[in-house]
Amino acid sequence: MLQKQNPENKDLILNMDGQLVHRDEAGVSPFDSSFQNGDTVWEGLRLYQGRIFRLQEHLDRMRKGATMLRYQGIPSDEKIIDELRRTFEANNMTDNVHIRLVLSRGLKYTSGMDPRINLEGCSLFVLAEHKPPVYDRSGVRLITANQRRPFADILDQTIHSSNQLTSILAKMEAIEAGVDDALMLDPDGNMAETNATHVFVVKDGIVHTSTTRACPEGITRATVLELCEKREIPHQIRDIPVAEVHEADEVFCTGTMGEIVPVVQLDETVFNREEEGPVTGRIASLYTALTQSEGYRIIQE
Ligand SMILES: Cc1ncc(COP(=O)(O)O)c(C=O)c1O
Repeated sequence: MLQKQNPENKDLILNMDGQLVHRDEAGVSPFDSSFQNGDTVWEGLRLYQGRIFRLQEHLDRMRKGATMLRYQGIPSDEKIIDELRRTFEANNMTDNVHIRLVLSRGLKYTSGMDPRINLEGCSLFVLAEHKPPVYDRSGVRLITANQRRPFADILDQTIHSSNQLTSILAKMEAIEAGVDDALMLDPDGNMAETNATHVFVVKDGIVHTSTTRACPEGITRATVLELCEKREIPHQIRDIPVAEVHEADEVFCTGTMGEIVPVVQLDETVFNREEEGPVTGRIASLYTALTQSEGYRIIQE
């Protein structure tokens, strides 16, 4: 899956720590922790008809990561919401928008990684783009990557950080294999997630997903689990050896950027044949219905 350039995004106005700037003129100081150390947390959000889906959950995840990293001067939720609103208004955006919200440890007075050389508190960046869900609805093809996702003793995945090098290395394996994305395993060989999404497998009507020992807590993942609970769809969270993924009846992946899409192939194994499996289809429809009816109204009608 290669994202296409969208001419609608040619003249985007970005929000660079409160300054609204044309995308061609936006810049980040080389003394910002994002440039110096990749020391940031981020969220991918989606705007549906003037409402942001699961906004509070995204803000909570970002705050949790920033607190674990002991960032100083984390902006309040009200301030962040205000900056999001200003950005949408500057771009005249209401629907089909994906937002990358980035919070860095902020400016340093000299180069280095020591957090004590940060005296100014966090920097907040809002990058909102016209972007429908990015994956082809007919499904994605995966390979199993050699690159693995670490457990918390190496790098705690609860911190949703912008350091995406393990994901990028896995994605490069996928590109070399001519497929869309890569399934990443944890150090024990269980399924963790793909380079960008969470993964669910369906076997004999039961929906299974991995624990979050080696992947972030996902907002879409949590929504799918909540839907299973409410609709009494049997489901389990557990360690899933990769061999079980190959034996699944259906596999699908989840994320804010691409929503819910079937996996049609993993390595040599083909799933779902021609069409989306019945459980995947049901969950995808339930999810779409939620995005059309729920969310924090940030743009007034
Ligand atoms: C590594 C990784 N996995 C999965 C996801 C999907 O999470 P969510 O459903 O919260 O968008 C993301 C999205 O930010 C991610 O970065």
